[in-house]
Amino acid sequence: MSRLVYLLNGPNLNLLGKRQPHIYGHETLADIERDCTALAHELGLGLRFHQSNREYEIIDWVHAAREEAGGIIINPAAFTHTSVAILDALNTFEGPVLEVHISNVHKREEFRHHSFVSGRADGVIAGFGTQGYQLALRRVAFLLDQQARA
Ligand code: DQA
Repeated sequence: MSRLVYLLNGPNLNLLGKRQPHIYGHETLADIERDCTALAHELGLGLRFHQSNREYEIIDWVHAAREEAGGIIINPAAFTHTSVAILDALNTFEGPVLEVHISNVHKREEFRHHSFVSGRADGVIAGFGTQGYQLALRRVAFLLDQQARA
């Protein structure tokens, strides 16, 4: 079982730190990547960290993850609420999938309450700010350890 994890970020998350900081905070995506890379190292995980504003790129990374990764952490951003294609791609992946949202989507507009991706995710973290990514990494490490022992 591979200990490589794909951490995928959807549209507009490249603007973290500048974009609606009252909702998403002041940390940038580069800050998140730095902290996740350090934590992944500590947990004995490899990490591929990606962001795209294009749906097809996220789908292609899920396909790449099928070939080499043990787990996927994904913040699909607005595609969460629209993308059957990302759900279908994730359904082809066999390892753990964790969905992360920086904000608590359930406290926000009604259209954010439904997630296509949750139909596949093994767990969902929402409203923990950027800390959610680190919690998801710890959970993936736990699940991969558990699989390795089984
Ligand atoms: C988000 C929540 C989504 O509703 C929104 O479209 C985003 C970010 C979050 O991390 O809180 O772009 O996924």
